[in-house]
Amino acid sequence: MENFIFQNPTKLIFGKGMIAQLAKEIPAGKRVLVTFGGGSVRKNGVYEQMQEALKGFETVEFWGIESNPKIETLREAIKLGKERKVDFLLAVGGGSVIDGTKLIAAGLLYDGDAWDLVLKGVCTETLPLASVLTIPATGSEMNSGAVISRKETAEKFAFYSKNPVFSILDPTVTFTLPTWQVACGVVDTFVHVMEQYMTRPGQSRLMDRWAEGIIHTLVEIAPDIVKDHTDYDKMAEFMLCATMGLNHFIGMGVCEDWATHMIGHELTALHGLTHGATLAIVLPGLWRTLKEKKMAKLVQFGERIWGITEGDDSTRADRTIEQTEAFFRSLGVPTRLGEANIGDDTIDEIERRFRERKVAFGEDHDITAEVARKILENCK
Ligand code: NZQ
Ligand code: ZN
Repeated sequence: MENFIFQNPTKLIFGKGMIAQLAKEIPAGKRVLVTFGGGSVRKNGVYEQMQEALKGFETVEFWGIESNPKIETLREAIKLGKERKVDFLLAVGGGSVIDGTKLIAAGLLYDGDAWDLVLKGVCTETLPLASVLTIPATGSEMNSGAVISRKETAEKFAFYSKNPVFSILDPTVTFTLPTWQVACGVVDTFVHVMEQYMTRPGQSRLMDRWAEGIIHTLVEIAPDIVKDHTDYDKMAEFMLCATMGLNHFIGMGVCEDWATHMIGHELTALHGLTHGATLAIVLPGLWRTLKEKKMAKLVQFGERIWGITEGDDSTRADRTIEQTEAFFRSLGVPTRLGEANIGDDTIDEIERRFRERKVAFGEDHDITAEVARKILENCK
C-alpha cells in the first residue's frame, strides 16, 4: 500500500425530507448565491423545498448552468455574485451545477478570468459551497473536482478546489430523472470505481473489496432502476454508490488510472456526448488495448463480479471485457464510436491534442497520444 493522507470534509445529509435541513447548515446572516441547471428542479418539488428552507436568508439565484458547464455561462454567474456580494454558494442540481459552482466559488475571489483557474488546475481560495444533489453519478457532492468546458475552443478540463461543506442527498428527488440519465449515471459510477480498481493487483485487499462491493450493488440494482426510478430503497442505494464511488474512500493507498475519463472528456468536448456515454465507449476499448498489463485485475474482477472461472487468464480477461460491455449495453448505452457517429477525424484530433499537451495518463503514466489512438481504434 502506498502512503496516503485521507480527509473528506463534506458532511453528508441523506434521506427523504432532508432538504429542510438547509437552514440549520448554512451559517446565519450569509448572502447565498443559489445556482441551478435548466429547470428540472421546478418540476420535482426541489425548488419549493429549497425556497421554504431558505426563508430566513438573503438569496440570489442564478439559473442555466448547462450539462458539461461552460466557462461562458459561469463568467455571468461570477459577475452576478460579485455585484451582489454573496458570501456562500448553494448548488442545486447534478454534477454540472455543482462543478460549475465550484468554479464560481473560486472565481468570486479571483480578479482575472476564471478560465485561468481551470488551466492552473488547482485553486483552494474559494468561498464556501454546499450542494443539494439531484442526480447520482459524478461524486462531485463529496469531492473537490470539477470539470469545466469552453465552448469557444471545444475544450474540457478538470480542476480541483474544495469539497462542498455539506451535501444533501434526498433519493426521492431522483424519481424524475430521465432513463438515459440514470443509465449514464450507473456507467459513470461503475467507471469511477474502475479507474481506482483496474490497475495493479495486490495493493490492498480492503480497497478491492470495497470497490467490488459498490460494483456488486450497482450490477444488482441497475436493471431495476433503469426501468423504474421510483423505488426509494434502490434509488437510495444508487445514490450512495455514486457518492462512495468518487469520494476517495476506495482510493486509499492504491494507484489510479483515469485515462478513460481523460479520453472521454475529449469526446464530450468535440461532440457534446453525455459524460457517462463517453465512458461506456472508451472503457472496453481501453481494456482491450491494455489487456496484458491489466490481466491479473481483469481476471479477479471477472471472477468476483461476473462469476467467470473457466479458461486460461487470457480467455477469462476477454470474457470480463465482453461481459462489462454487455452490461453497459443492457442499460441502453451504446459502446462503440460508430454508434455515436464518431469517426476517424475525431481520433486524429484527440491524438493531436494529447501530443500537443504532452500528456501521459494511466497508473503508470504511459498512456500517451499514441496509446490513446490505439485505444480509440479499439472503440470502433
Ligand atoms: O439542468 P437540469 O434541468 O437540472 O437537468 C439535468 C440535466 O439535463 C437533468 N437532471 C438532473 N437532476 C434531475 C434531472 N432531471 C430530472 N430530475 C432530476 N432529479 O439531468 C441532466 C444531466 O445533469 P448533469 O448535472 O449534467 O449530470 P451529471 O451529474 O452526470 O454531471 C455531468 C458533469 O459532471 C462532470 C462531467 O464531466 C459532466 O461535465 N464530472 C464531474 C466529476 C467530479 N466533479 O468529480 C467527475 C465525473 O467523472 C465527471 O467528469
Ligand atoms: Zn465520471
